[in-house]
Amino acid sequence: MASNPPPSTTSSESAPLLLSHSHNDKKHHLLLSASGSVATIKLPSIISALSLHPALSIRLILTPSASHFLRGQSAEQPCLTSLARLPNVDGVYLDEDEWAEPWVRGGKILHIELRRWAHLLVVAPLSANSLAKVVGGFADGLLLSVIRAWDASGVLDLPYYFDPNTSEEEDGKDLVGKGADEVTPRVKRILVAPSMNTAMWKHPVTKKQIAVLEGEWGVAEVYIGYIILMVFEDYLRRTDMVYLIHHPISPS
Ligand SMILES: Cc1cc2nc3c(=O)[nH]c(=O)nc-3n(C[C@H](O)[C@H](O)[C@H](O)COP(=O)(O)O)c2cc1C
Repeated sequence: MASNPPPSTTSSESAPLLLSHSHNDKKHHLLLSASGSVATIKLPSIISALSLHPALSIRLILTPSASHFLRGQSAEQPCLTSLARLPNVDGVYLDEDEWAEPWVRGGKILHIELRRWAHLLVVAPLSANSLAKVVGGFADGLLLSVIRAWDASGVLDLPYYFDPNTSEEEDGKDLVGKGADEVTPRVKRILVAPSMNTAMWKHPVTKKQIAVLEGEWGVAEVYIGYIILMVFEDYLRRTDMVYLIHHPISPS
């Protein structure tokens, strides 16, 4: 693990095992992630904006590039150890956590447990590089592995699905013995906020990739606009995720 990140767990139990214990804690599970864009520096603000939520558990994933932006180099760029102490943050995960312990047959796998745990995955910011990899199906890192292994069928993760409309969580008891074709699929969402400079954004390949997420993926919703660099100043004044969600800007 790199020098600045905190441990995702200090227990003798492995991170994936601990994670599996908290599937049914009756909280909203937000898997909040950042890839290597300058907008990663807004991660602390996003977490702070969510700090008053009473039943929210946040687990963070940072790509190696994203972690460079949060090394305590300025007041608005605290180190990951500080981030881990913010209210509602229950874990911070980096690529190396996936391989922290030698895997043996039957062992739990971190990116699978994170996927199962999450009720919603937010990738804010999504870098141009990670956007391309997501669209291309690459999985060379913890975040990309979670996304690549996402349950696009909406059936696999049903036992741990939290319904925000009813605030009820399936504990899986009524699903025991049922086949995948006997349960109603419920797809968990992935929300992405692409963030890149104007040249990258205006590049033809970006439009194609966004179109894939918006048109072909059944699970991804793309929220763009105030988080991209060309209007970054405006974004800096408006850190509320809800604001971002309700004020998207067209990619064209
Ligand atoms: C200081 C700095 C700022 C960067 N800002 C951005 C950015 O805003 N958006 C972007 O897509 N890439 C940006 N990059 C480039 C990415 O960090 C680079 O493509 C990296 O490989 C992304 O890796 P990841 O997608 O695995 O996080 C920046 C790089 C540096 C050094």
